[in-house]
Amino acid sequence: MKIAISGKGGVGKTTIMALLAGELRKQGREVLVIDADPSPHMAETLGFKDAEKARPIADMTRLLAERAGKTEGSPFYNLNPEVNDLLRDFMIEHDGLRLMVLGAVQVAEGGCACPENHVLKKMLKKMLLAPNEVVLLDMEAGVEHLGRGTVAGVDHLLIVVIPSRSSIRTALKIKKMADDVRIPNISFIANLVRDEDDREFLMTALPEAPIAFFPDSREIRNAERKETAITEIESELEGAPQQILLKIFQDKK
Ligand SMILES: Nc1ncnc2c1ncn2[C@@H]1O[C@H](COP(=O)(O)OP(=O)(O)O)[C@@H](O)[C@H]1O
Ligand SMILES: [Mg+2]
Repeated sequence: MKIAISGKGGVGKTTIMALLAGELRKQGREVLVIDADPSPHMAETLGFKDAEKARPIADMTRLLAERAGKTEGSPFYNLNPEVNDLLRDFMIEHDGLRLMVLGAVQVAEGGCACPENHVLKKMLKKMLLAPNEVVLLDMEAGVEHLGRGTVAGVDHLLIVVIPSRSSIRTALKIKKMADDVRIPNISFIANLVRDEDDREFLMTALPEAPIAFFPDSREIRNAERKETAITEIESELEGAPQQILLKIFQDKK
């Protein structure tokens, strides 16, 4: 199962992905989180103490050149032990969670981060996952990745919205592009929902109801400030991470 997240900047994508990662671990699943944001901070959010040890995939120019170049269509990841080992070098692990960081993307002359995105695309398309394995892809804001078809290989796209008109506008644009690249399952997730008014605004503005509502949480803010693992939080989340996973695994069947 491969799950990606998108939405306007600052709406809570990284936070929600980290909470999902924690919940998946609790359910006994194998989790690989890929941080594809050019300013990555998933490691800190998950409470990795050795965040700086994450070797950005983008640094691996040889790998990038190979993957972006002539080797089109060649076996990748699990199919090729050499590449598999290579990728293992780029994973850091903490509390049973594995993390890979795409890293600062160097934009080429034409304004395209092509090699990095090519690698990401290949990884998502070719990675062979056991039924118990879940890949979570955290992305930068907006629709860039969708535009390049990078997330075309994911099973489920989560689009995060907060109760604001501008976040809805971005979400609708993302939804359209995700439909265009034929992502099989697309769901809205509401974040920073304070009251019934917020809920109602979102329900009216979106074409379909969000599958989960995250409250505005003091615990989340505190975890961010102290850089403690967000996966420890439970009490204030009103079961939202569990609701998302329930829906995702339901849709899969
Ligand atoms: N439900 C929430 N309650 C309180 N603070 C939140 C919540 N969701 C996100 N935040 C805070 O909002 C900020 C932006 O969240 P982040 O997950 O980094 O957004 P994104 O990845 O979409 O840019 C962070 O400081 C985070 O701690
Ligand atoms: Mg983020």
